[in-house]
Amino acid sequence: MVQWKNLDTLSTYHALFDLKESVDLKSVMSGENGAKRVAEYSVPMACGLAYNFAPKQVDDKVLDGLAALAEEAELTDKYAELYNGAVINTGEKRLVLHQLTRGQLGNDVIADGVNKREFYVSQQKKAAEFARKVHAGEITNAAGEKFTTAVQIGIGGSDLGPRALYIALENWAKANNTLKMEAKFISNVDPDDAAAVLGSIDVAHSLFILVSKSGTTLETLTNESFVKDALEKLGLDPADHMVAVTSETSPLAKNSGYLAAFFMDDYIGGRYSSTSAVGGVVLSLALGPDIYARILDGAAASDKLATNKDIRKNPAMLDALIGVYERNVLGYPATAVLPYSQALSRFPAHLQQADMESNGKSVNRFGEPVNYQTGPVLFGEPGTNGQHSFYQLLHQGTSIVPLQFIGFKDSQIGTDVVIEGSTSQKKLCANVVAQIIAFACGKDDDDKNKYFEGGRPSSIIIGEQLNPESLGSLLSHFENKIMFQGFLWNLNSFDQEGVQLGKLLAKRVLAHETDGALKALADLFEI
Ligand code: F6P
Repeated sequence: MVQWKNLDTLSTYHALFDLKESVDLKSVMSGENGAKRVAEYSVPMACGLAYNFAPKQVDDKVLDGLAALAEEAELTDKYAELYNGAVINTGEKRLVLHQLTRGQLGNDVIADGVNKREFYVSQQKKAAEFARKVHAGEITNAAGEKFTTAVQIGIGGSDLGPRALYIALENWAKANNTLKMEAKFISNVDPDDAAAVLGSIDVAHSLFILVSKSGTTLETLTNESFVKDALEKLGLDPADHMVAVTSETSPLAKNSGYLAAFFMDDYIGGRYSSTSAVGGVVLSLALGPDIYARILDGAAASDKLATNKDIRKNPAMLDALIGVYERNVLGYPATAVLPYSQALSRFPAHLQQADMESNGKSVNRFGEPVNYQTGPVLFGEPGTNGQHSFYQLLHQGTSIVPLQFIGFKDSQIGTDVVIEGSTSQKKLCANVVAQIIAFACGKDDDDKNKYFEGGRPSSIIIGEQLNPESLGSLLSHFENKIMFQGFLWNLNSFDQEGVQLGKLLAKRVLAHETDGALKALADLFEI
């Protein structure tokens, strides 16, 4: 049996504080030392990616300390508990089974009398068959014409992950002539969102995918009505244009007004649901079931790597441990994810939810307050755009923000131009390596305004090209990193009570059950 203990009760955690000042990043990343580190401090990830942590404030001693922490915290044993079907989500008393949607690492997991791997695979097959029929014109609109656009209606985990994955592969699929349908997403309850999407598509040839695990999310149900209204105004029957993705126990599951329904269950957290039917339906429709299956294969390969006890063979665990070292020992409050890949433009937004909704907690998995910092503030934008935006603070601001770069040798489309002796892709890659060194090594200058202190840590995930497998691997890497960090902080990373209070108050405002400042603020909007 594993022991669930707070981070500050572990002796190996306290031992890390003695190593705190051991690495001067500026000197270890300069000259030949730096070259050696770049070669040595790299760990292979699944599907051709590599995690390079040379520009982090760690050395072999710190790494040994982190390995000891991983052991004392029983990280891989806790992971095994999770994939073998223990009740890891203590707050909601649920199993945590998203890894089962893309592979099987341990025992058969039987819950509610059902083999869960078989259930998830059956839903994948159902989505694949449905998508193939739509592509073949066997499922059409009422006029017998093919659907050309898939529109996902959902919010949070029912939007961010699937949207990030679609955007990540849209141009790759076009370049490889495999894009089956265009995908669009409606999420915000702001009517301008739904109106803008509806205004940009051919509604009569659009298939809407209503996605809500709970089937009760106000924004999603409102947008469903918005879309149904638009369909009816065009003389179209919403039941011919809409499918649902939900859990079998949700109120939506009982509704017959859909062309088809696909299911996930309570054991798949919203932010971990991209590889369940939540992502599977839209991605199978847009990219095709075969490409979606390749994303799942990439994620499964990465899940398998995360079972390794050796931190140098387990990039997700290593990344997690370094992150906790930075947060709790070095005291950095934030972190940024900076993909040098336009295709990953929504990936930081997905990680904002995945990370901050999972580990933004002040009580441990037993509901007791913790005496240490937990999840950092996470933000990000693609490079090089970010360089012309918030990098000023990252380079010269008073806070040190550890950075997570992601970059690929090749672009997805292949079309490029040589300007001033280099392609755009080479310019992109040149920028990311330049940034790593600028952050780590800084620059002396007598003019303090032009002085770069350096010593600012980063890591980079490097791959050949962003494709379905490497994308799946990337998705799972971060899911597993967040899980290992949750284990270290002794949190329940799989509930999200912190989002409930706002929902409750919004309901009161709409019901006019307000007083005091809540009423005064509502009056400003004439609600
Ligand atoms: O409000 C937060 C949240 O519960 C997320 O965790 C979830 O991803 C999102 O809302 C959407 O939930 P649902 O899929 O049930 O509509």
